[in-house]
Amino acid sequence: MKNDHKQLLHLEPQSGWLNDPNGLSCFGGKYHIYFQYSPDSPDGSGRKCWGHFESPDLLNYRFTGTVLYPDTPDDRSGVYSGCGLVKDGLLYLFYTGNVKEEGEHDYITSGRGANVILVTTGNGHDMSEKRTLLRNSDYPEYCSCHVRDPKVWEEDGRYRMVLGARTLDDRGCVLYYTSDDLLNWTYDSTLFGGDGSYMWECPDEFVLSERRFLSVSPQGVPHGEFMYQNVYSSGYFELRDGEPRDYREWDCGFDFYAPQSFEAPDGRRLLIGWMGIGDIPYTNPTVSQGRQHCLTLPRELTAGREGGIYQRPMRELNALKGRPVSLADGGTLEAGLPFYFASLAERERFKLTFEDMLEMSFADGVFNLRFTNDKVGCGRDIRRAKIGRFTGIEIVADTSSLEIFLNGGEAVMSTRFYPGEMTVRLHSDGIEGSVYPLRAMEVIRDE
Ligand code: FRU
Repeated sequence: MKNDHKQLLHLEPQSGWLNDPNGLSCFGGKYHIYFQYSPDSPDGSGRKCWGHFESPDLLNYRFTGTVLYPDTPDDRSGVYSGCGLVKDGLLYLFYTGNVKEEGEHDYITSGRGANVILVTTGNGHDMSEKRTLLRNSDYPEYCSCHVRDPKVWEEDGRYRMVLGARTLDDRGCVLYYTSDDLLNWTYDSTLFGGDGSYMWECPDEFVLSERRFLSVSPQGVPHGEFMYQNVYSSGYFELRDGEPRDYREWDCGFDFYAPQSFEAPDGRRLLIGWMGIGDIPYTNPTVSQGRQHCLTLPRELTAGREGGIYQRPMRELNALKGRPVSLADGGTLEAGLPFYFASLAERERFKLTFEDMLEMSFADGVFNLRFTNDKVGCGRDIRRAKIGRFTGIEIVADTSSLEIFLNGGEAVMSTRFYPGEMTVRLHSDGIEGSVYPLRAMEVIRDE
């Protein structure tokens, strides 16, 4: 069967462009997943809005359409990224209203308004009036006009907000504000990166097993062999005594950026990322069908013993699994998409091939994902993860994406891929595992 690259397990718009996940929250018995949405074009041009999915269980979704438009003077050039917080039976959504002034500007040091705007909703899709809470004049004088992506949380009876920013001397940083009522915000402090970046986007701060983490998406850090392989990075620091330590990338595949975390009703911290990045040197053929990009699966986060955060595909996925088929060492198997593959034994080296498409291999402490067919990779070549020992691999393969979890989620690689058919031929050399067919999730679309 021909593969039309429409995802069966990952949220994507039917037409238009998607980027960052926004406003992730649980409210009124439902999960709410908003996202940066350009309904007018698959290349991200045109109006930048928020689209909205809701779901009782992360498996059955309803797309309620575009819920926030750039229709006021304070957000007229885009309803940019932001977050959600539930209080007194209302969902509070904070976002950046982007404003590009007319005239001669570089839009870094002048010509750009970056307003923190609040709306509330009682049902997830009908929004209140917009209310501007912070403007450029409220940010420290060393900030450029690039200040955005508020993330708000409650801590010790107060509210805190973190914003991503670029300083006038091109350093990535985050700004902290505090509030007692979610409406009036006072500047508190700045945390500078010192990582060689010029901008930190989409910050998120959270506590896991009593350890505090700051997630950021840094731009401008020079490429390395195992780190910063993509145009922009995305990772987290552990905050110890207020200092950011031990930056680790969330995902070292080709397509991952601007993730956001939130807490599920059962206490799990879930993370969803954009399975895409801006300004990439590779392409996505879905553009010819009028759409581009999707979100990652929700991932469950746990704090690892050695400093890092482990990511696993949400356990809800188990409900979609069919009967497994074994892939023997040296064997070949025709697997229908979507599927889940798992091999949970230690190996010194192996190669797992998706024939005529790509190969995954492990040797000398390094895991490689390498495309062998450019029709399938569309400009993607190789990504590496230095993992030392190999203790297992899980792959969630959708019609046009792979999420690869290594060593129980110690390292993750996500990529789009574009097979021509709905099946892939797996070949194993030095590894055995099980392939579980996956049922599609349900998405009802109001528009
Ligand atoms: C990250 C980002 C955010 C911004 C949004 C605009 O991908 O650049 O910083 O708010 O996208 O769509």
